[in-house]
Amino acid sequence: MTATPLVETRGLGKVFDLPRDGFGPRPRLRAVDDVSLSIAPGEVLGLVGESGSGKSTIGRLVLRLIEPSSGSVAFDGRDITRMPASQLRPLRRSMQMVFQDPYASLNPRRNVGDAIAEVLALHGIGAAAERRERVAALLTQVGLSAEDAARRPREFSGGQRQRIAIARALAVGPRFLVADEPVSALDVSVQAGILALMRELQDGLGLAMLFISHDLGVVEVMADRVMVLYLGRVMEVAPTRAIYTTPRHPYSAGLLAAAPLLAGRERPAVQLRDEIPSPADPPSGCVFRTRCPFALPRCAEETPPLRPVGEGRQMACLRDDLVF
Ligand SMILES: Nc1ncnc2c1ncn2[C@@H]1O[C@H](COP(=O)(O)OP(=O)(O)OP(=O)(O)O)[C@@H](O)[C@H]1O
Ligand code: SF4
Ligand SMILES: [Mg+2]
Repeated sequence: MTATPLVETRGLGKVFDLPRDGFGPRPRLRAVDDVSLSIAPGEVLGLVGESGSGKSTIGRLVLRLIEPSSGSVAFDGRDITRMPASQLRPLRRSMQMVFQDPYASLNPRRNVGDAIAEVLALHGIGAAAERRERVAALLTQVGLSAEDAARRPREFSGGQRQRIAIARALAVGPRFLVADEPVSALDVSVQAGILALMRELQDGLGLAMLFISHDLGVVEVMADRVMVLYLGRVMEVAPTRAIYTTPRHPYSAGLLAAAPLLAGRERPAVQLRDEIPSPADPPSGCVFRTRCPFALPRCAEETPPLRPVGEGRQMACLRDDLVF
């Protein structure tokens, strides 16, 4: 990457303490382990992995909605890892989030115009009249109409509600957006429209984005680069086209083989074995080894480091001889 990153993490880790089950030491869960990522201004980094791989936790860590257990987070060249809330406040405007379920984040008793205007007021943007104008412009920008400002959330479809959530996230003019499974709750027929809108807005506004999804087909539409996560660790990072045509890590290849939306292409024939192990008790060595069809005895001993494998690509597998 040549451009100075807008968002950068180094060795990011998050450990959760779990409730004690009987006697003995308190169990701990390493949800995110040694994750270093960077996102350039205007770039979309896709974050994929199965449920429980730590995607949402990374999203919350980079926005500093939760505190890391280790490592650092920088935004626009400033280390925000231990920045006090007072200094973080003005930066919050530049970093916004869109969630999977827009209904949960919209107050059912308020009209959507007020819900959007509220965010503007919170950040001290514009007088009341200007805010109303801005709300109308935002609603139009996301494919709704100015009149929709007077309606309540329940009067909209799921897709329309996600458009409202996007309008609200963009209201304060962010430079960076974390989108956590933004279309996963929507009908497949509605997803394409929301993705097209997000891509158009992202491109037009030059937004940097961390785009989180368990769905490889969705990530392919949105992301410039893709990071594949497994049990909190990075398995592979590569430009989107590269990872979909020539995955290098067995887990990436296995995910692609299992992706229904990508049917019709020649499949790498990698079948993932067994179930995901408990994140509270991950395998030694390579965390993926219990499901890897190519595991060798040394995979139980050595933790594969993330290493460069060609132009802008990195992966964490001990083997060099695998081609998919
Ligand atoms: N507050 C918490 N306390 C304890 N464990 C947690 C907490 N938040 C997340 N976890 C655990 O951390 C791991 C990663 O969770 P996370 O929500 O980041 O995964 P995810 O990749 O977003 O999954 P999904 O696709 O289901 O949304 C999971 O094992 C989860 O149970
Ligand atoms: S290090 Fe071993 S177990 Fe891990 S992905 Fe590579 S071959 Fe499979
Ligand atoms: Mg999640």
